[in-house]
Amino acid sequence: MLLRGSSFLSEAREQSRAVPAFVAYNLEMVQGIVAAAEATEKPVLIIAGSSAFALAGLQPLASIALAAAQESTVAIGVHLDHCRRVDEIETCLALGYSSVMFDGAQLSYVENLTQTSSVVGAAHGVGAWVEAELVGIAGDEDRSSDALATEMTDPGQAADFVSRTGVDALAVAVGNVHGFTSRPPQIDLARLEEIARRVTVPLVLHGASGLSDEVLAGCVARGVAKVNVNAELRRAYLAAMTSSTAAAAGDLVTSLGAARDAVAATATRIIRVLDPTG
Ligand code: 13P
Repeated sequence: MLLRGSSFLSEAREQSRAVPAFVAYNLEMVQGIVAAAEATEKPVLIIAGSSAFALAGLQPLASIALAAAQESTVAIGVHLDHCRRVDEIETCLALGYSSVMFDGAQLSYVENLTQTSSVVGAAHGVGAWVEAELVGIAGDEDRSSDALATEMTDPGQAADFVSRTGVDALAVAVGNVHGFTSRPPQIDLARLEEIARRVTVPLVLHGASGLSDEVLAGCVARGVAKVNVNAELRRAYLAAMTSSTAAAAGDLVTSLGAARDAVAATATRIIRVLDPTG
């Protein structure tokens, strides 16, 4: 069933656990994510977003993700990640996405406030929730680029932004980086704690791939209730696709099945790390 509303995130924050949001580029990734949610009987979010649309097409990928969520035996949300285009947000909301992220980090503070507030109005009008971003998160969303985090979220500004926009969740920049890096990113847990003290909505950690289970648990203990994961699933998918004997024999169906199962195994492990409540 489709996971509607954002109360599941507030509950997760209160119970010191987090819900993973997994990026899917195609059918097999969607299937692997759903299989992991059903095996653990935990809610998850499927991210079907802009860069994957460039490959698969918005309508086809959105349809796959929404149909898989609706048919699932567990609650699954469909989320639009890092979107800067209001028209794309409106299209996804009209298709039935349960949440969207407006990424206004490149805008001035005032312009980010204005545009985020207007996205909140549009999303809430159709029962969807909104994640926002104040400071850009380092690294490429679709490939590991060994980026370094430079800018960080200011706790006072974060509190002001959340209260003035009415967003339901806030992505934080606390040293986190998209993709794998040669040295693990250093997460500023003290800053995260201070943001969580001032900001009441659930916090979102992007760039989970490459962080240790201990660091992830430390973030969850400090108010992170949604954790975005991409590179780890990509790595599992690609390794399974290319290393099987089926791939060597040109057996695409078996190779795609192996990739789907590798995504499911990786997602299952991450779901359990983020929610150790059993
Ligand atoms: P990773 O690729 O590091 O898992 O980050 C994913 C992400 O934050 C998507 O928004």
